[in-house]
Amino acid sequence: MESMRVTTLERIRLPEMVELWNRCWQGYYYNMAYTPEHMKFWLELGQVELANSIAIWVHNQIVGFSLLAVKDSDGWVAGTSIDPRYRGKGLFKPLMKAQIELAQRLGLARVYLEVLVQNHAQKVYRSIGFSGIRQLYVYRTASLENAPLSAITIKPFKEIPLEQYLEKRLQANFIPPWQRRQGYLKRYRNIQALMNANGSAGIITLRQNNGPILDVWSSNTAGAEEITSMILKFRKRGFSLLNQPEDWIVAFLQINGVYAHSRQIEMCLRLE
Ligand SMILES: CC(C)(COP(=O)(O)OP(=O)(O)OC[C@H]1O[C@@H](n2cnc3c(N)ncnc32)[C@H](O)[C@@H]1OP(=O)(O)O)[C@@H](O)C(=O)NCCC(=O)NCCS
Repeated sequence: MESMRVTTLERIRLPEMVELWNRCWQGYYYNMAYTPEHMKFWLELGQVELANSIAIWVHNQIVGFSLLAVKDSDGWVAGTSIDPRYRGKGLFKPLMKAQIELAQRLGLARVYLEVLVQNHAQKVYRSIGFSGIRQLYVYRTASLENAPLSAITIKPFKEIPLEQYLEKRLQANFIPPWQRRQGYLKRYRNIQALMNANGSAGIITLRQNNGPILDVWSSNTAGAEEITSMILKFRKRGFSLLNQPEDWIVAFLQINGVYAHSRQIEMCLRLE
């Protein structure tokens, strides 16, 4: 498109960012509409730096964006989308290329993102050098009404400090996706970290009733069975859990008739 140009999002103000976000995500697989409060929370939680993020313009309007978060020498695309009226016109590749060039100028070694398996955006990511790392399972208020009651007895989980939880998780060799990395989890207020009696499984949730599960891991199958049974017992009304790597927890949920709502591919582009 001849009248196309790219800039950073440095100058955008919150109300304009909300308008752009809501306009561009229309027609996506999920409702992504944000209020200004949601938007502010998302940008802060993700530590998105608007000066490192890209806007694509046609004439005098921004018609697409890519948001970038940076931690040390890693970057993460916290959302990217094109206005539905401007899709299918070849704008996505130049948008992503501009984002990667900026990441390169920032001296980043890697850029990560997640994409739903069925999303054709993946084609563009691959064409500019991203490759798939692993699949991540997404549970969105999976109903547990029909899940059988677990036969195993669950010993009480105990609340532990986040630092101790993260240490145990590290020892279990759990490789966290971006939104479960240490720094990201530490930015939540009001979270509760729980661990089983022998330290082989852990879970983080928001303290509110039926809040989303922010993280869950196990170091062995017994731990996975225990934590899955705990979820099944206490979350009868359903639960949300994003980006679970394919592990024993996914397997035990499946054995109990609980299937992921969708799957994402975690992708990475190495810039070194
Ligand atoms: C994904 C998205 C950004 C792609 O933008 P776009 O402007 O439609 O993409 P482009 O026109 O640049 O096309 C990119 C490629 O996808 C292909 N493509 C476009 N629409 C397609 C469709 N509906 N189905 C399959 N392939 C499609 C194009 O042919 C092109 O491939 P090519 O370079 O080999 O010709 C856009 O559809 C969108 O905003 N979707 C909603 C938000 C979203 O999914 N964001 C990504 C989250 S990870």
